[in-house]
Amino acid sequence: MPLLDDEAYARQRDADDPLAALRERFYVPDGMIYLDGNSLGLLSRDGEASVMRTLEQWKRLGVGGWSQADPPWYYQGEDLGRLMAPLVGAASEEVVATGATTVNLHALVATFYRPKRKRNRIIATALDFPSDVYALAGQLELHRRDPAVDLVLIPSRDGRMIEEADIIAAFDDTVALALLPSVLYRSGQMLDMERLTSTAHEHGIIVGFDCAHSIGAVPHSFDDWDVDFAFWCGYKYLNGGPGGVAGLYVNRRHFDCVPLLRGWWGSDKDRQFDMAHAFVPATGAGRWQISTTNVLGSAALGGALQIFAEVGIDAVRDKSLALTDYLIALLDEMADPSYSYIAGTPRDHARRGGHVAVEHVEGARIAKALKARGVIPDFRPPNVIRLAPIALYTSFHEVWQAAQHLKAIIDNAEHLRFPLERDLIA
Ligand SMILES: Cc1ncc(COP(=O)(O)O)c(C=O)c1O
Repeated sequence: MPLLDDEAYARQRDADDPLAALRERFYVPDGMIYLDGNSLGLLSRDGEASVMRTLEQWKRLGVGGWSQADPPWYYQGEDLGRLMAPLVGAASEEVVATGATTVNLHALVATFYRPKRKRNRIIATALDFPSDVYALAGQLELHRRDPAVDLVLIPSRDGRMIEEADIIAAFDDTVALALLPSVLYRSGQMLDMERLTSTAHEHGIIVGFDCAHSIGAVPHSFDDWDVDFAFWCGYKYLNGGPGGVAGLYVNRRHFDCVPLLRGWWGSDKDRQFDMAHAFVPATGAGRWQISTTNVLGSAALGGALQIFAEVGIDAVRDKSLALTDYLIALLDEMADPSYSYIAGTPRDHARRGGHVAVEHVEGARIAKALKARGVIPDFRPPNVIRLAPIALYTSFHEVWQAAQHLKAIIDNAEHLRFPLERDLIA
């Protein structure tokens, strides 16, 4: 039987799913099929409890919370770093929760982009998230380099994917740094981080990864792969809350580097309140912190990370792949000319992140029609509807229902009722 006609199959998959019960630990909005956790993850009950506990401590302890809260706020960046380290295959002291994604990019690139003689260029990709490109251009300008010359954006052959071979072909002794996405934000393609890292190192190039779209969805082995640095946000698959605290990784090989974008929160914790003007950095990645930890903002992430600690990222990845396999199979059944949906995401597990890019020429309007039906995707121009079934809270039955809605929208020409322009926040 075609999967589209087989609701019982979806129900059975849920009955067999070892992670199904975790959904109860999240606030899944009533009447919604929420497939946008790759943009903003949902609030977990653990996260909520952690925020409420923090508010209570603030109420009771005031400034004393820095040392007397349980656990003390002073070490929160390091504590959350310890919880995130298993998600990226790193030691605790190589990871810290701090800042925000683009800010952390700046902090790390300010340290690791060291142009020297003819080694001046930075490699990124033509499909990168715009903020990364803005930040890299700014970093080059800080060094009085011209981004039009020294920022090399590896082109895509098909507008969806970036071939590792094309990146590698650009590695030479004019390149100082490669800053690459782990998973492309639009198509969901995952790059081979291990291969890119080892090849870059053969050419003497430092490598960093933007893991905004892989953290909490995909396991990483940064230490084994010998990645130099990485950063990510806390608000997508990690469910840390809107604009919540982000994370960064620095390989312990670089613990002798002193950050150039430094601030007092990167101090050795025992010395920070000496108030001396000489900066004494923390021993690990904590030294890349700049400002006072956002304690309330980090609390939700701390709660949500407990769930990952219980379940483990491998189980999350297994379910995520099962969900996206299922969604892709449903889309394949709708690939005939009447529906024209194309899954523009790699089939190969090794090349797939956590979401599926559904391509359709009418993507913008179909995304609106989905929202009107209570299915929450997002839209990325020119033609991609991103659907992210999240391992911790999306059911197989919801994926099946989302496919029914996609089918019905075309059957009823519903999308034609919506304006062509994208929404302000798509
Ligand atoms: C891949 C990627 N990089 C960077 C960013 C920028 O994140 P922030 O606004 O937290 O700096 C985003 C935001 O969605 C993203 O998806």
